[in-house]
Amino acid sequence: MLNFEYYNPTRIVFGKEQLGRMPELLSDQNAKKILLAFGGGSCKKSGLYDQVLIALSGFEVVEFGGIEANPEYDTLMKAVLFAREKEVDFIIALGGGSVIDGVKFISGAIGYKGDPWEVLDRKEGCAFDNAVPFGTILTLPATGSEANSGAVISRKSLMEKRTMGGSLFFPKFSFCDPTQVSTLSKRQLVNGIVDAYMHTLEQYLTYPSGNWLQERQAEGILLTLLKIAKGVIKNPSDYELAANLMWCATNALNGLLRCGVPTDWTTHMIGHELTAEYGIDHARTLAIIAPRLYEESLVEKQNKLVQYGERVFGLNGTSLDIANAAIAKTELFFHSLDIDTRISNYTKDTSGIEVRIRKVFEDRDWKTMGEGGIFTPKRVERIVRSAI
Ligand code: NZQ
Ligand code: ZN
Repeated sequence: MLNFEYYNPTRIVFGKEQLGRMPELLSDQNAKKILLAFGGGSCKKSGLYDQVLIALSGFEVVEFGGIEANPEYDTLMKAVLFAREKEVDFIIALGGGSVIDGVKFISGAIGYKGDPWEVLDRKEGCAFDNAVPFGTILTLPATGSEANSGAVISRKSLMEKRTMGGSLFFPKFSFCDPTQVSTLSKRQLVNGIVDAYMHTLEQYLTYPSGNWLQERQAEGILLTLLKIAKGVIKNPSDYELAANLMWCATNALNGLLRCGVPTDWTTHMIGHELTAEYGIDHARTLAIIAPRLYEESLVEKQNKLVQYGERVFGLNGTSLDIANAAIAKTELFFHSLDIDTRISNYTKDTSGIEVRIRKVFEDRDWKTMGEGGIFTPKRVERIVRSAI
């Protein structure tokens, strides 16, 4: 088992009809002037927005709506200027991963003296060193952003999608109400299932770690997602199915799965480039890249692919057969959710994409990625080419 440090201070308030707890949680934070941030309006359609305003009725609230999917730097900077002008002391993110990630950025950028893009661009010596505290009201189980300290911010004008994070960016609390799943479109629902599935695989499909508990926890999430996927798509109002999906997604990226194990976030890093270039939904970029990445690293990942194949899919045969079949089963699972796994399924113009992504990785000096640094930019180029 590898050494690790585990820290997660986010209070999860899980279940239906819990918003009545809001005043107490905000008072604990000494919140007085609150920025309520949300997306394109789904929370108004579902009626959640009205319930949130009731829960916030004892507080001074200003609003910023319109944070888009793959939250955009220019929009978020408008929110930063607004929040500075209004002198807010607490932020509530009402939405999915995009609104929550956007709020993490806003909370850090409010007190930053220079151009906050410097931080995302990893300019030497630039970091967010304070953050306005925030809480979240989750509406879409997928990213785990409600229970972690990371965020992903896009900047269309530069065709960039960049990550940020740090312990300043854990939400103080997150309301996770499974009834919110009922209004999700099939597209967002399957995106959520696949994103949670892939977060688990990124922290599992490496090499045997000796942390048997974490490996079993990862397998537990994978098995649960496989079990509930079809049912929750058919009936998103089924509370037990929705609750299991939501709790799986939170647990897939709240920091616990990575304790003491090697991880490999290369699928995500390549996927972010496909979203930056073509606007493909985040989860779908992962479904495109993962099978091809596992084929490319069959030798390095074989032992773990076999464990995955045996324990999650009940496969048997030679090691090589099981490893290959586990990859095929994974891709079949994505197809069973109507998710296409080729770049050319999403865009006609794929020319040169593999070279562009290789160059982006070289420019960022990402020379060795994945467990033990197994993925060089050259191998990344090969993976993307085989995914076209
Ligand atoms: O904007 P509104 O109108 O609210 O509509 C949203 C949006 O159009 C809609 N939606 C959300 N909840 C709904 C709903 N529609 C009906 N009913 C509800 N209850 O769904 C659409 C997509 O929302 P979005 O927040 O973009 O989806 P998701 O939660 O999948 O977040 C994706 C973003 O998170 C990043 C991704 O890269 C992407 O930018 N990620 C963040 C991570 C993190 N912070 O840990 C990790 C992930 O790997 C991921 O990279
Ligand atoms: Zn993801």
